[in-house]
Amino acid sequence: MTKGLAIVALAPVLALPLPAMAAEDAPPPAGPQELTIGARVYSKSCAICHGDNLEGQPNWRQINEFGRLPAPPHNARGHTWHHDDATLFGITKLGTAKFTGLDIESDMPAFEDILSDEQIWAVLAYIKSRWPERIRRQQESINRRAASQ
Ligand code: HEC
Repeated sequence: MTKGLAIVALAPVLALPLPAMAAEDAPPPAGPQELTIGARVYSKSCAICHGDNLEGQPNWRQINEFGRLPAPPHNARGHTWHHDDATLFGITKLGTAKFTGLDIESDMPAFEDILSDEQIWAVLAYIKSRWPERIRRQQESINRRAASQ
């Protein structure tokens, strides 16, 4: 029963556009120093689940035996780049459940007491720096669309 609920509850999180924060919350363009910080934060706080090489956990589309989704890849094969910056920031800071306000169980931790806002923007900048140009551009257009809503 718990398993079924988790599947039903999580589907809208990944499929629906999530509430966007104000456009002025968008991060400044990343410089080399920010990327160095981002890479460090990634390997310390994210790689254990999302993979050293952003590859995610095995069978990441399938609910596991605990009724939860494994960590998805952050590379071009995942759906991180389907989200605008404010959503990525919100999920990282608050965790999926709190950010979406949905009653779901998730293994994605909230980093609000662990990372500063600057560190969160830096790790997101690092993740984006690993995307191919084509994917980066698509995510930028998702950002523009979110900002104009
Ligand atoms: C303990 C495991 C774990 C750690 C550590 C972790 N995550 Fe996650 N993350 C998950 C899981 C599992 C999901 C899948 C969605 C869900 O269940 O909420 C997820 C989803 C996400 C998403 C949404 C991706 C999408 O396509 O919807 C983002 C963004 C994210 N994580 C960023 C991060 C960042 C940045 C870090 C490091 C600062 C991090 N995560 C550390 C487990 C983890």
